[in-house]
Amino acid sequence: MLAGLLRSLSDDVAIDLGTENTRVAVAGRGVIVSEPSVVAVDLGTRRIAARGLAVGHLAKQIEGRTPSDIEVRHPVREGVIADFQLCEAMLRILLGKTRQSRLRLPPRAVVGLTQTATEVERRAIFNSVARAGARKVFGWSKAMAAAVGVGLPVAEPTASAICDIGAGTAEIAVVSLGRVVAARSVRIGGQVFDQALCDHLKRHRRLRVGLPSAEQLRIAHGAAQSDDDEARAEVAGVDAATGLPRTLAVSRAEMAQALAEPLRKLADAVREVVESLGIELAADLARHGLTLSGGAAQLARLDRFLSDQLGIPVQLAVDPAGAVIRGLLTCAEHLDAWKSALVSVH
Ligand SMILES: Nc1ncnc2c1ncn2[C@@H]1O[C@H](COP(=O)(O)OP(=O)(O)OP(=O)(O)O)[C@@H](O)[C@H]1O
Ligand SMILES: [Mg+2]
Repeated sequence: MLAGLLRSLSDDVAIDLGTENTRVAVAGRGVIVSEPSVVAVDLGTRRIAARGLAVGHLAKQIEGRTPSDIEVRHPVREGVIADFQLCEAMLRILLGKTRQSRLRLPPRAVVGLTQTATEVERRAIFNSVARAGARKVFGWSKAMAAAVGVGLPVAEPTASAICDIGAGTAEIAVVSLGRVVAARSVRIGGQVFDQALCDHLKRHRRLRVGLPSAEQLRIAHGAAQSDDDEARAEVAGVDAATGLPRTLAVSRAEMAQALAEPLRKLADAVREVVESLGIELAADLARHGLTLSGGAAQLARLDRFLSDQLGIPVQLAVDPAGAVIRGLLTCAEHLDAWKSALVSVH
């Protein structure tokens, strides 16, 4: 009875704490917050700038044009918490944005976990979310959440494969009968693609390009495979020899060449997961294929590239970047029924 009363006085929320974006959803209300995982810190007071409010969109606006006494920091790196205190402060503000009334009790929260999160990393996430204002915290696999979020038939006795490629990590999993039957998490995502692009331009074109410019170029003009030498996009940087600014035109074929190594590693990781399956489950994948989600999965022709490499059908989900939070939201909406299958430390 007490549990029922608590539930009627508080919300169940879902949190996808991402390397680049943090999303928060509330059961019955949908995704309420989707903001960059950044915090602006006043170096003088060592506190969060703008009277403790400079997180997410507000902090991102400051990034790049920061006064010298304000530094923009990223509390999540490669899918794990890099700065515990800042992460907690960021989550407190973002969670606060979902709270409709001060009279409501703190929420229960379901948070996404990467496959390879260590015990220490899990504890850091659980503690951060609890200290940011959750009454109870549950953890669920991000890959499973992505599979549910894109609508794969996870409960059925057939295998479904998902690969969620974010900014910092790629979560790969095969699910069947409501369980993850094979999985891997690799530190490959948009940021690794951008670094590969910067390295390529420096080595082969003698142009030093910043990561934000590389990201813009990848989003606008990137491709996982292409033999198009005609269509070119311009990128600005600094000449590696003279140090003077100049621009360069890059073709789609060159983009694919620059991204070849991280893409090959991604394909190898998916292949390893598929090869670890039994014959029946592997055969299911030959029919149903692999679904891609996550913001960085929107790289042009990534589906074609992976399909060629793996010999199975590959498709990009609708609204790929929202897959994990949609799945976590479904979990939060069925929390009492599903909680025995979730990880909890409280
Ligand atoms: N249209 C697009 N085409 C290609 N890449 C894109 C596009 N839009 C966003 N991205 C990339 O998606 C990435 C962010 O995706 P997402 O929000 O899924 O990451 P995240 O959840 O914060 O990271 P992670 O899950 O790795 O911790 C960035 O690297 C961004 O450059
Ligand atoms: Mg993500």
